Amino acid sequence: MKELDNIKESYISDMANVKIMDDLNNLRVNYLGKNGHLTTIMKLIKDLSVEEKKSFGVAVNDLKGEVTRGIEAKTEELKNAALLAELNSMPKVDLTVSSAEKKGSLHPVTIIQQRLINIFRGMGFAVEDGNEVETEYNNFEAVNIPKFHPARDMQDTFYLDNNQVLKTHTSASQNRIMKKYGAPLKVIFPGRCFRNEELDASHENTFFQMEGMMVDKNVSISNLIYFMKTMLSEVFGKEVDVRLRPGFFPFVEPGFELDCSCPYCGGKGCRVCKQGGWIELCPCGMIHPNVLEMGGINPDEYQGFAFGLGLSRLVMMTYGFTDIRNLNGKDLKVLEQTKIK
Ligand code: PHE
Repeated sequence: MKELDNIKESYISDMANVKIMDDLNNLRVNYLGKNGHLTTIMKLIKDLSVEEKKSFGVAVNDLKGEVTRGIEAKTEELKNAALLAELNSMPKVDLTVSSAEKKGSLHPVTIIQQRLINIFRGMGFAVEDGNEVETEYNNFEAVNIPKFHPARDMQDTFYLDNNQVLKTHTSASQNRIMKKYGAPLKVIFPGRCFRNEELDASHENTFFQMEGMMVDKNVSISNLIYFMKTMLSEVFGKEVDVRLRPGFFPFVEPGFELDCSCPYCGGKGCRVCKQGGWIELCPCGMIHPNVLEMGGINPDEYQGFAFGLGLSRLVMMTYGFTDIRNLNGKDLKVLEQTKIK
């Protein structure tokens, strides 16, 4: 039948023009909808003979089937094309690339410093940040090293045009901290220090210390020994012994060098302790009355201890660095070693 052939022809060309889902929906409505071509054409059936009615019905139904299947196939095709377009617009990811890419890590000094801060926080110490550029007064005078005192020679530093200095030790913060907290106080203050040194494997112009102070009524050397022993046992993850030897620092009286039993050989003697069984780690002492006084604390009422842990030294020992200059260097192979030797 001519009308049916026309519908089929226009269906084929309409379908060929379908680009998006909206086109396909329009096509469905145009052919199969309530007023669509294949619905309205059935009206012609009433003028046909019985024989013709039968074959006409079959032909219309066949075409309806063809259109329905065509729409289904086109729906699938459009969906796939949309998915492909979406995938192509996404950033390209190469799933074969290894995920073991370098992510970076904290610096060994930062790792040990954070561990120490946690230990001291647990013992009730506050944590302070000191300046790197300091007044001569704070770096020297306030810790009992007057101008022209020979003790200044032990800590030559870099003098700035404005008469300030790069701090030679964390003790430079003692005065400011005493004035800020008053007595009693328990504070640690890690920091970067600078000295005018001849450089070699164990001397660097820039290094790290971690200082601590405790001031209260009736503080004695026993308190100092207790805190040092507890702290070092925590750091090394095992019980260590400590011993005190006399040491001179103008800001403590009496002053000590605190040694700790070698955590690597248990005191038997090894490479780390240079066969001596002890490691010199932490100068310390009872805070000199002059220093307390300059900090605004009455030395007749309060006593205290101070210690200046060599943080760079501890890091080197912990990770087996043999050259202190590596800590400020940029050799990642060295800095990445985290295995305790
Ligand atoms: N500030 C001293 C130094 O750098 C160390 C120290 C700190 C000694 C506190 C005693 C008490 O050499």
